[in-house]
Amino acid sequence: MGKQWVIAIDGPSGSGKSTCAKLLAKNLDLLYIDTGAMYRALGFWAKEQSVPLDDESKVQSLLNTLNLEYGVSDQVLIQIDGTDLTQKIREHEVSKLASTISQIPIVREFLVDFQRTLATTKVCVMEGRDIGSVVFPNAFCKFFITTAPEERARRRLEELKEKGETDLTLETIIKDIEERDATDRNRSHSPLIQTEDAILVENGSSLDDTLSTLTKLVKEKAIASGINL
Ligand code: DC
Repeated sequence: MGKQWVIAIDGPSGSGKSTCAKLLAKNLDLLYIDTGAMYRALGFWAKEQSVPLDDESKVQSLLNTLNLEYGVSDQVLIQIDGTDLTQKIREHEVSKLASTISQIPIVREFLVDFQRTLATTKVCVMEGRDIGSVVFPNAFCKFFITTAPEERARRRLEELKEKGETDLTLETIIKDIEERDATDRNRSHSPLIQTEDAILVENGSSLDDTLSTLTKLVKEKAIASGINL
């Protein structure tokens, strides 16, 4: 298999990988694909439709009948059956629903197919947990982004406060992040891992520094792979 025209960005929750991926895509004029948003949307939707996640046939019929759309417009990142879920999926309780639904193999298979199809149109920056390991194992450029847990929790708390969710403490967020990390790393299907060919990037206090490191590495990888960005 030849190289896949994808920049795969994986890493734990709150590592700042979404911000990095979004800005990297913007700077290089590439398509940005947030796969976490898809797990969030499906987790939220299953709850809305009262689909029990331990009933595989009910989950399968939900997947067979729903219409998932990504990148509908600048304002609408994701919708299901015509309902815009862009804002809703960022609520704190949806993180847990996403983490739970992302452990179900048929859900992962459904979304991996969806993600591979989306990436056929243009070179893209795709971020998630299994992009370099499962979705695009031959991506020409792979990053694994990390940040210290306290810093990740602090950023997440700021984000939630901006959205008006002010009743959460830093301790609650750290605990939630650690639990979700453990679930993501230890699940049997497509756990969060850094593949051997992924470049580890520490997203420290300067986003500008991280971005220039990523941009430089992408350009080098693109030249080495004969890809014209
Ligand atoms: O990146 P995020 O916090 O929006 O992701 C939400 C959840 O979805 C998180 O628990 C991990 C899971 N996820 C996954 O299992 N695989 C992906 N490619 C992306 C997200």
